[in-house]
Amino acid sequence: MSFLKLDNVGRRFGALQALKDISISVEQGELRAVIGPNGAGKTTLFNLISGFFPPTEGSISFAGQPITAVSPNALVRRGIIRTFQITQVFLSLTVYENLRVAVETAMGLQLRPWISRATRAQVEAKVEELADIIRITPKLDRIVGEMSHGDQRVVEVGIALSRHPKLLLLDEPTAGMGDQETHHMTDLIRRLNKEQGITILFVEHDMAIVFGIADKITVLDNGTMLAEGTAAEISANPRVQSAYLGNALEETAV
Ligand SMILES: Nc1ncnc2c1ncn2[C@@H]1O[C@H](COP(=O)(O)OP(=O)(O)O)[C@@H](O)[C@H]1O
Ligand SMILES: [Mg+2]
Repeated sequence: MSFLKLDNVGRRFGALQALKDISISVEQGELRAVIGPNGAGKTTLFNLISGFFPPTEGSISFAGQPITAVSPNALVRRGIIRTFQITQVFLSLTVYENLRVAVETAMGLQLRPWISRATRAQVEAKVEELADIIRITPKLDRIVGEMSHGDQRVVEVGIALSRHPKLLLLDEPTAGMGDQETHHMTDLIRRLNKEQGITILFVEHDMAIVFGIADKITVLDNGTMLAEGTAAEISANPRVQSAYLGNALEETAV
């Protein structure tokens, strides 16, 4: 049984058919890259899976349950968590405070006027565990707004992790990052998948990263699904090469 399944999914915005006839099947524990030129429909795909808006055609199921018209909050409770292309953190708070707010929210504590010492210790332990997973412990006291873009995106992943994702959607997690930040983020994605067992879909433009870590790759082009397969299958696919990969490969080769 597929963990995540899209059957003939489409999405129209007025006259624009942003996605058409998309059928995707993702196994539990898979690390799946979604690639395609700008405007291909990658973010729209993530919006549909995370319930940000419903598909206009087709159906989506997750862990054997239909989720086609389920709200984003209900999907978060079921374990579908996304990060956005735009970083979503409290810039004026420290890393520790950002993670603490996230953990408290995930534990349903944010509206409680009073938290017991035992619960406080539980929150602190969870924050430290998250910081360790995302390798940010030495920077816990830094104000997030004063950190590098790469560190901010890592904190954002930490916040997503506080919700116990079963399926994590990362939209261009390395966009705008330097080499070292990209390496840190890529390593984090790989570890979340291999060590935490989280099924991950990520949008990425750097083909070296995609081919380096993805189990399988879905190629979108102009709202349609051009191809799906392993790195070897995708790089050998003539349709992919002519539509997209040729140029991207030349860029990574430079
Ligand atoms: N909320 C929206 N309303 C109208 N058009 C949209 C909306 N979201 C995306 N689109 C359009 O759908 C197409 C695919 O966009 P998008 O999914 O953002 O592509 P990608 O993430 O692959 O660059 C684009 O033509 C875009 O303008
Ligand atoms: Mg996008």
